[in-house]
Amino acid sequence: MGKKSLNRFLQEKEFRSFYELLVRESGLEEMGRFPQHGSTSRLMHSVAVAYYSYRLARWTRLSFHWEELVRGALLHDYFFYDAQDGDPAHRWHWTRHPAVAAENAKKEVPLTSIEEDTIRSHMFPLTLKPPKYREGVVVSLVDKACSVYEFFSRRAPYSTLRDEVIPQRSVGASVLFLLPEMAGD
Ligand SMILES: [Fe+2]
Ligand SMILES: [Fe+2]
Repeated sequence: MGKKSLNRFLQEKEFRSFYELLVRESGLEEMGRFPQHGSTSRLMHSVAVAYYSYRLARWTRLSFHWEELVRGALLHDYFFYDAQDGDPAHRWHWTRHPAVAAENAKKEVPLTSIEEDTIRSHMFPLTLKPPKYREGVVVSLVDKACSVYEFFSRRAPYSTLRDEVIPQRSVGASVLFLLPEMAGD
C-alpha cells in the first residue's frame, strides 16, 4: 500500500468512526425516510455532504476540527418532514430549516459552537448568516455542489455509493455507507 493509499485508508476509517458514533448518539438514520432532491434521501445527502466536505478539507492541508466538521455536516439538514409536501407550515423552509435542524440536533446531542454554527449558516448566502468558522465555509460550499449534482442526476445520484450500502449488524441498527472512494483508490 503506497503512502497515498494509506492516508486515504486512515481518513476513511476516521470518517466512518465519526459517522458510527453519531448514529449511536442520535436518530441520524431516521433521515433515510425523507426525500431530499430527486431520488436522494436526506440521509444519503447528508452523508455525501459530510464525506466530501471532509475530503475537500483534507485536500486543502489546512487545520480543521475534523470530528466537528463531519458532525456539523451530518446534522446540517436534521429535520423530519418533506420540505416539498405543500404544507403551508413549511412555506419558509429554505430560510428556516437551518435553525430547525440545529434545535433538533441540540435535543439529542450537545453541539459545539463550530457544529452549531456550521448547521445554522449552511444556507448562506440565501440566508444572511455567514459561517464563522472554516468548517462552516466548506460545508456550505459542498452542500450546494451536492444539491446541484442531486438535482441533475435525478435518476441515480450517488449510484456507486448507493450500491455499496452495507448493513453493519455490529453497530446496532446502523447502516455503514461505503462510498466509492472507501473501496480503495
Ligand atoms: Fe439545508
Ligand atoms: Fe443540505
